[in-house]
Amino acid sequence: MRRPIIAANWKMHKTIGEAVALTEELVSLIADAEVDVVICTPFICLSAVKDAIAGTKIHLGAQNLHFKENGAYTGEISSIMLKELGVEYVIIGHSERRQYFAETDETVNLKVKAAIGHGLIPIICVGENLLQREQGITDELVSMQTKLALCGVSSKETEKLVLAYEPIWAIGTGMTATKEQANDTISKIRKAVAELHGDNTASKVRILYGGSINRNNISGLMREPEIDGGLIGGASLNAEEFAKIVKY
Ligand code: PGA
Repeated sequence: MRRPIIAANWKMHKTIGEAVALTEELVSLIADAEVDVVICTPFICLSAVKDAIAGTKIHLGAQNLHFKENGAYTGEISSIMLKELGVEYVIIGHSERRQYFAETDETVNLKVKAAIGHGLIPIICVGENLLQREQGITDELVSMQTKLALCGVSSKETEKLVLAYEPIWAIGTGMTATKEQANDTISKIRKAVAELHGDNTASKVRILYGGSINRNNISGLMREPEIDGGLIGGASLNAEEFAKIVKY
């Protein structure tokens, strides 16, 4: 059985002080969580949030990394730096990074390999925009994004990583994919993994859904057989709301 993951993506929200306050509130609310909880904070909050979750079962995540270990890349953060900080997970290829920061399937793949190479667990995001869904190319697109992200990644490495299906039209819009749409597309992503590495590996990979998840739609989504968890943006910024999602 795949253990569910509920991951918070705070995006560019929360100062260090606000991050600590939110985390402290969360810790008391979700101490008895029965799923893996990951909090992906802005880089500057990682250290403070790490202290605030010390001794709990909550995991620390970052939202991006650079694929080189070090070098003349002004403003970037590497996997070595994240690892030393105690980061365990890292979101890679979020649609906002692809859209606003020119990330491509190729850089996503380099980042995935850098993360794995330094013992970080990637949460790799794939997903279509509205036009692509309307054109009926969602399945082809997410399959291709998945296969390109996993180029050169072994099956042993693949089974430990996390994928997230995030339809762009559902992110921050209040328009959630229906649980059937989410389940169906995630089954296509799993099929793409199976085409690379076989059914056994594909059956172990955890694949999340993300896009306007809230306390009201989470349990329906989690009842779907292919959906192994959620990547939560807006609703993760409020401790009570996020705790309700964690305890779906
Ligand atoms: P949302 O964001 O929950 O605010 O739609 C999800 C995400 O972008 O990871």
